[in-house]
Amino acid sequence: MTNGILDVLGALTYVLVFVLGIGLAMVIVLFVIDVTQKHDAVRRNYPVIGRFRHIFASLGEFFRQYFFAMDREEMPFNRAEREWVERAGKGKDNTIAFGSTKNLDPAGTPIFVNCPFPTLELDAAQTATCIIGPHSKQPYEARSFFNISAMSFGALSVPAVRALSHGAKMAGCWMNTGEGGLSPYHLEGGCDIVFQIGTAKYGVRTEDGRLSDDKLREVAAHEQVRMFEIKLSQGAKPGKGGILPAEKVNRTIADIRGIREGEASISPNRHPEINNVEELLDFIARVRAATGKPVGIKAVVGAYGWLEKLCEAIHKRGIESAPDFFTLDSGDGGTGAAPMPLMDNVGLPLKESLPMLSDIFHKYGLRDRIKIIASGKRITPGGVAWALCAGADFINSARGFMFSLGCIQSLKCNKNTCPTGITTHNPRLQRGLDPQDKKVKVANYCTNIVHEVEILAHSCGVDEPRQLGRKHVRIVQDTGKSVPLDEIYPRPAILPQYSSSMATVR
Ligand SMILES: Cc1cc2nc3c(=O)[nH]c(=O)nc-3n(C[C@H](O)[C@H](O)[C@H](O)COP(=O)(O)O)c2cc1C
Repeated sequence: MTNGILDVLGALTYVLVFVLGIGLAMVIVLFVIDVTQKHDAVRRNYPVIGRFRHIFASLGEFFRQYFFAMDREEMPFNRAEREWVERAGKGKDNTIAFGSTKNLDPAGTPIFVNCPFPTLELDAAQTATCIIGPHSKQPYEARSFFNISAMSFGALSVPAVRALSHGAKMAGCWMNTGEGGLSPYHLEGGCDIVFQIGTAKYGVRTEDGRLSDDKLREVAAHEQVRMFEIKLSQGAKPGKGGILPAEKVNRTIADIRGIREGEASISPNRHPEINNVEELLDFIARVRAATGKPVGIKAVVGAYGWLEKLCEAIHKRGIESAPDFFTLDSGDGGTGAAPMPLMDNVGLPLKESLPMLSDIFHKYGLRDRIKIIASGKRITPGGVAWALCAGADFINSARGFMFSLGCIQSLKCNKNTCPTGITTHNPRLQRGLDPQDKKVKVANYCTNIVHEVEILAHSCGVDEPRQLGRKHVRIVQDTGKSVPLDEIYPRPAILPQYSSSMATVR
C-alpha cells in the first residue's frame, strides 16, 4: 500500500518536472524571440513579460464593458442607451425605477420643455405621413419619421439585411441600401427601399464604373424602391469612399456590386462627375429623369458656403430642380471601416450642422421643398426628439438598428469576425443571427422609438412629433443655466426675393 502511494507520488513528480521543463523551455524560446526581434520595443526591453501588456490591453476592452464602465460612460454608445434599445427591441416594459442615472449638468445637455397642460392622449394625433419629391413622377408618401440608415450589403451580412428588410416592413419604415447595391435580401421582406448611389455606383455602374441609366431604370422598376440617394459624403469619413476589406468580398457581394470576388472594394472619394453645385443639380436631374422617383443627397457638412450656392442655383433653374431630400449625417456617425483621423476629427456634429442647414434652406424659401433627414447617434427617443426640434423631418439610424439586431459594440465591423453575425460573412458566426427572431426586434425598436417620441411631444404640449420646434428644447450652458434652442439658433428671415417660395417655420 505504502509502496503504491510512493509510486504514484513518484510518477506525479516526473509529470511535474516534465511540465515545468516544457514551460521553462517555452519561456527561453520566447525570451530569445523577444530580445532578437526589432519591431516591438517593449518586448525587446522586457522579454516575455512585455507580452502581457498586449494581452491585458485587448482584454481591457472586454472587462471595461462588462465590469468597470459606468452606465453612462462608454463610447460611442453607453450601456444605458444600448440597454434601452435592447429592451425596446424585446418589446419589454421600458420603464426605469428610482431615478435617472443621467447627469443633467454638462453643457450641451438638452432638456425638453414640458407644458403645464400636456396633450391628452385622446387629442393626440397620429404622426402624419410626409410627401417627399412632389415634382417627381412618383412622389413618395413616407409613413415613419424614424427609418433605417444606409448600411451596405457587404458591410452587413445576409441574415442582417434579411432581418432589417422584414422588420422595416412590419414597422412601416424604409430601409436604405447603402452603397453596396440592391440585393434580393433587401427586397425579401417587402419594405420600402431607398437606393443609395455611392461614388463607385455599385449596382448601377457600367463596366468602367460610370453611372448606367439602363441599370438605374432596372432598379427603379422595383416598386419597393421609392427613392434614390446620391451619397456625397458620410459623417465617419468625409472625403473618403467606402472601404470593404477583401476578406468580405465573396461571390454574391461581388456580383451585386459588379466587382471582382476577393478584391477589396474601395470606392472613389467623390463622384468624379460632380465638381460643383451645378454638376450636382445635373446629376440629380439625370437620376430623376431615368427613375421617375424622388432623388436626394447625403452629406456631412463642414464647409457650408456651398449650401448657399446650391440654393441660389436651384432658384435659377426652378424649385423643381432641388434635391427632394438632404440626408444630413453627423461628424460622429458610424461606419463599417474608416481611417481614425477622419472619424475623430472631420465634419460637424449634428447639434451644430442641423440647425444651420435648416436655417439656410429656410432663408432661401426651400425649407419645405427639401426634406431634411438627420442621422448620427439618434438611437433613443430623446435624441430623435431633439433632431425634430432642431429642424429634421425624418431621422435615420444605422447603429440603433444594429443594436436591435443584437450588436454588442465589439467594434469589429471591419474584420469579418463580428461575434453577433451582423457584419461578418463567416457562416459559423452568422448562425447566431436568426432573421425570424431579429425581424420582430427591429420592428419593435422602431415602433417603440416612435411611440416614446410621441410621449415626449405630448409632454411638450403638441399633438404629434413633427410639431416639435426649437422652443420646445433648452440646452444647458457652461454657466449651468439652460437656454432655449430658438435663442441659440434664432430663425433667420426669408430673403425677400424668395419669400414667395414654399417656406415653413418649425
Ligand atoms: C456598418 C455600417 C455600414 C455603413 N454603410 C454606409 C453606406 O454604405 N453608405 C452610407 O452613406 N453610410 C453608411 N453608414 C453610415 C450610416 O448610414 C449613418 O450615416 C451613420 O452611421 C450615422 O448614423 P448612426 O449614428 O445611427 O449609426 C454605415 C454605418 C455603419 C455602422
